[in-house]
Amino acid sequence: MRDVQEQGMTRREFAKAGAAASFAILTARSGIAQTNGDTLRIGLIGCGGRGGGAVMNCLMGNDNVMLVALADVFEDRLTGKRQEMEKNKHSKVRTKINVTDEMCFVGLDAYQKLLATDVDVIIHATPPYARPGHIEAAVDAGKHIFTEKPIAVDPVGVRQFIRAAEKAREKNLSFVCGTQRRYQRSYVDTVAKIKEGAIGEVLAARVYWNGTLPFANDRQPEWSDLEYRLRNWYNQVWTCGDNIVEQHIHNLDIANWILGGPPAKVTASGGRAWKPLEEKYGDLFDHFNCDYEYPNGVHLYSASRHWNNSKNDVFEEVTGTTGKSNCHDMGKDDMDPYVREHVALFESIRGAGPYINDGVECAHSTLTAIMGRMSAFTGQEVTWEQAMNSDLSIVPADLSFDKEYPVGPIAVPGV
Ligand SMILES: NC(=O)c1ccc[n+]([C@@H]2O[C@H](COP(=O)([O-])OP(=O)(O)OC[C@H]3O[C@@H](n4cnc5c(N)ncnc54)[C@H](O)[C@@H]3O)[C@@H](O)[C@H]2O)c1
Repeated sequence: MRDVQEQGMTRREFAKAGAAASFAILTARSGIAQTNGDTLRIGLIGCGGRGGGAVMNCLMGNDNVMLVALADVFEDRLTGKRQEMEKNKHSKVRTKINVTDEMCFVGLDAYQKLLATDVDVIIHATPPYARPGHIEAAVDAGKHIFTEKPIAVDPVGVRQFIRAAEKAREKNLSFVCGTQRRYQRSYVDTVAKIKEGAIGEVLAARVYWNGTLPFANDRQPEWSDLEYRLRNWYNQVWTCGDNIVEQHIHNLDIANWILGGPPAKVTASGGRAWKPLEEKYGDLFDHFNCDYEYPNGVHLYSASRHWNNSKNDVFEEVTGTTGKSNCHDMGKDDMDPYVREHVALFESIRGAGPYINDGVECAHSTLTAIMGRMSAFTGQEVTWEQAMNSDLSIVPADLSFDKEYPVGPIAVPGV
């Protein structure tokens, strides 16, 4: 479904059709190019490592696009990323950046100011706590969307995001999420073959993200409490969702893709074995082990942890009645998947490829991770229905640099 090269016109065929034809497709399909000629205007929300990377991937993969607007909660992050991008001398990039001071927005409401401009497409790469509200506003503003994963940190946010993704579909807005393995040729082909029976009937699966500690920042005296929380976002459950949500979603997403949807229930355990009890490590666990059961009875074992000086493993594996696969061994990569997801997005917008909206799938994989966390934190089995209907909402509604947002305590299962 998401393999854009399998359906419709390829990008090369589209390019051959010429500028006049492309403009016709643009106006017929979405109307968005009527005031912008053939060039689609892009705004970046969240000017960090991935935001800058995603912009580069987008500009490398697409012609007739222009980065015109930036938004970030912090001025230094925006300015630093703007300067870094403007210095890029690559011929496929340097003519596609034209950001003026008037199109740079800073603060907690920066995203709203960017959405009020005439950008056609947004690239959203803030930490996940902000995603549901920002994406809902972007859809309301009529923007096409590339958004990073995970798409929320709690079930209330997941449901808000799903409503936005469904509304985007109604409005014919293209919508691509950053679970890039779904755009990676080796995965696309292998998953298709597994679904066709290449390893027989799938009996079980394992997915791992056992990696090292991500960044952790000490509080600085000149920062307000919220500034500290946001600059240290990878260390609070409410800002990042914990490592199972923030990172392991990539692997859980492959299991959901192959098994045809989310699990029915999960029993998980976890804890904090490696990270010292220091403020900069927040209230996260540092390891999770989950036994997911899918509606057809297949079990998925999932392991995710952030420990230093330990064995690292990042993989997916499915076992069938006649064989085993690492989920990418029956295909060959062609294009960088981080570029391909942006090519697919713009082909969808321009009508040169199939319409893409993978918001619900990414939301389901995010909730799969969240239900694993819920089970590990509580020590209880959690069903899909319980997670999907849960009122758990952990992002403060009233974010302000004048308020305090204490975190913790670290969850104790059963308490
Ligand atoms: N698909 C992938 O392989 C991949 C890889 C890396 C990161 N990511 C995802 O990208 C997201 C960002 O990660 P990163 O590594 O770029 O983090 P980062 O800290 O480098 O960048 C995040 C940026 O968002 C800004 N920000 C925070 N709150 C904001 C708000 N309310 N409004 C506007 N800006 C805000 C921060 O100031 C910062 O500049 C995460 O969700 C992460 O999971 C995905």
